[in-house]
Amino acid sequence: MKERVFSGMRPTGKLHLGHLAGALTNWVKLQDEYECFYSIVDWHALMSEYADSGQIRSNCREVILDWLASGLDPEKCSIFVQSMVPQHTEIHLALSMITPLGWLERCPTYKDQIRNMQNKDLGTYAFLGYPVLMAGDILLYKASRVPVGEDQSAHLELTREIARRFNYFYGPIFPEPETLLTPTPKVPGTDGRKMSKSYGNSLNISEDLKELWEKLRTMKTDPQRERRKDPGNPDVCPVWDIQKVFNPDLEERERLENGCRTAEIGCIECKKALFAHLEKLLIPIQQRRRYFEQHGDELGDILREGARRAKVVAEGTIDEIVQAIGLFR
Ligand code: TRP
Repeated sequence: MKERVFSGMRPTGKLHLGHLAGALTNWVKLQDEYECFYSIVDWHALMSEYADSGQIRSNCREVILDWLASGLDPEKCSIFVQSMVPQHTEIHLALSMITPLGWLERCPTYKDQIRNMQNKDLGTYAFLGYPVLMAGDILLYKASRVPVGEDQSAHLELTREIARRFNYFYGPIFPEPETLLTPTPKVPGTDGRKMSKSYGNSLNISEDLKELWEKLRTMKTDPQRERRKDPGNPDVCPVWDIQKVFNPDLEERERLENGCRTAEIGCIECKKALFAHLEKLLIPIQQRRRYFEQHGDELGDILREGARRAKVVAEGTIDEIVQAIGLFR
């Protein structure tokens, strides 16, 4: 029996190189070792996008395309959209019964988001319960491992606390899931800040390769290196950060690093080397993406099959919950 993994991603639209390096590459590896459930969590998206939900459906499609393109294999893992498995909403309600308000109000991500998202009204009942829905996602499958980045650690901790409290009231139903902390390498965007759709600085997985080169070519490097003859400092160069993530050729990297520090090479040479590696990585990914773009029927089949497999587990857990609480069914 393989251990079970669950992870989710909000449908934000086309995914970028940060998603690839920070999550997807790891998810692809896990599908060989674990029984994996990967879900596009559209209800979570709605919690912040409820006033403008028109993008959610097309964003889900983009995410599924990028997942399949990046190597998630529906023969090895189950891929589905959260709202296709209605048991997610049912477990969310059940868990909300026993979750103390204070736990949610004290959650650091809640306070941060309310402060940072001044353009959206996140003062809703549902948004406070974001971590409860997430706990439900994980506990519905009794997943033992959850691959996430550091930013989700507090939510995983809450998930364990909710599981413990539920078990305390109704008996041992839920295992406490372990965080599989995914090392999230630093992937800056074109402006040097963290790559993020909301900054408009992304290099997308599906980026046209000519455009990718244009973006890379014009990207700022070490600000102190004004002229070709000035020596550079890779430690403060955002292109070098990307190079460290996507150039696996350590010898070449050493050559580039020394060349930069001694001004033997210019930034363009370094960028060309990086682009060659990105091209090599992305060509087969983009080929797979185009295949699925043109075979929409297969996309539907993959999601229906993923949801069917998810429901088999989800229905079992809901039955246990109903029994344990003592609802009349
Ligand atoms: N909150 C996660 C994020 O924003 C997405 C998510 C929802 C998730 N449910 C999950 C991640 C369950 C892991 C497990 O990235």
